[in-house]
Amino acid sequence: MTKIKVGIIGSGGMARHHLARFSAMETAEVVAVASRNEQTGMQLATEHKVAFIPEWLHLVEREDIDGVVICTHNDSHGEITLAALQVDKHVFVEYPLASDVGEGEAALKLAGERKRVLRVSHPEAVSNTHKALKEKIGELGDLLLTSFVRLTPGRGARPEILFNLPVSGTPAHFFIYHIYPIVDFFGGAASVKKSAVYEGLRENGQYDRFVNTLTVEFKRGGIGQWTWAGGIAINAAEEHERYVLTEGTISDAGGEWHCTTPAGVTPLLIPDSPQPTLQELWLSEIRDAADQPPNLGDAAVALEAIRISLASG
Ligand SMILES: NC(=O)c1ccc[n+]([C@@H]2O[C@H](COP(=O)([O-])OP(=O)(O)OC[C@H]3O[C@@H](n4cnc5c(N)ncnc54)[C@H](OP(=O)(O)O)[C@@H]3O)[C@@H](O)[C@H]2O)c1
Repeated sequence: MTKIKVGIIGSGGMARHHLARFSAMETAEVVAVASRNEQTGMQLATEHKVAFIPEWLHLVEREDIDGVVICTHNDSHGEITLAALQVDKHVFVEYPLASDVGEGEAALKLAGERKRVLRVSHPEAVSNTHKALKEKIGELGDLLLTSFVRLTPGRGARPEILFNLPVSGTPAHFFIYHIYPIVDFFGGAASVKKSAVYEGLRENGQYDRFVNTLTVEFKRGGIGQWTWAGGIAINAAEEHERYVLTEGTISDAGGEWHCTTPAGVTPLLIPDSPQPTLQELWLSEIRDAADQPPNLGDAAVALEAIRISLASG
């Protein structure tokens, strides 16, 4: 089988993660790493015996590359995705798809026209829990309310990047992986309201602590609410998630899902069936794209998710 030739853009944590995954797969060959950071870029490329290219555009334009894996910071995802699709590369981009709705829309349009695979790295595409939740939600009638709360004590390994409005966007945008699954369940929003408080906000857009809430009315009915707080005085991160539907509720407390209906309380059974990794899924989609136009359904959900996260800006 001919190997799919891959180029990695970025040389931080996610680039290292994806490079290790693709390098271990028989159906892929990593050809090059591009990064503006010569030190970490060269180190990663040398470790994996692949070419190092300082300028990402030169990697994107290489004829010996079929697909690019974009692992840069949020502010460059849209631009690099568009540049790659324009030269007929398949794209695997870390979330969020883009930090501008117009760029996200253009990317989806271009992927359709060029018949290229556009996969945003949202893990729910290969998650048994996500599938089980979707099935159960389908059995419990119409949505009334979904609520999500995430409280984080720390500021991450690189707070100067994460807690940085121009680079990473609002917390709702960098935590978009909490929005995407709910959009996959309930579709797009008819309206979005936000509230955000940043402590220690400086002129360069960096800050020390935040609280960010988001409320949407879904087009199909029902309300979605998200709350994020970071850099706050708690001992460990906390997360709570709940779906209130007309026939019952589903909630996650301490990592265990259970459903409540008038008939009783039952655990949500999560099947143990093997799933492909996101990298395997992308490679199989690229192979399938040789015979039929790629399915851009997940990318369309990722686009709806940025419509919501960016409306909260
Ligand atoms: N799927 C997941 O589970 C997951 C988990 C964490 C993060 N993410 C997402 O993955 C992305 C990368 O996160 P990370 O943790 O890997 O960040 P990171 O460790 O800071 O690495 C980012 C890399 O991209 C380079 N870079 C940034 N902007 C660039 C640009 N415009 N042009 C060229 N190179 C650029 C950085 O160079 P410098 O060293 O010079 O800054 C660095 O090498 C983020 O968008 C994040 O939201 C996904």
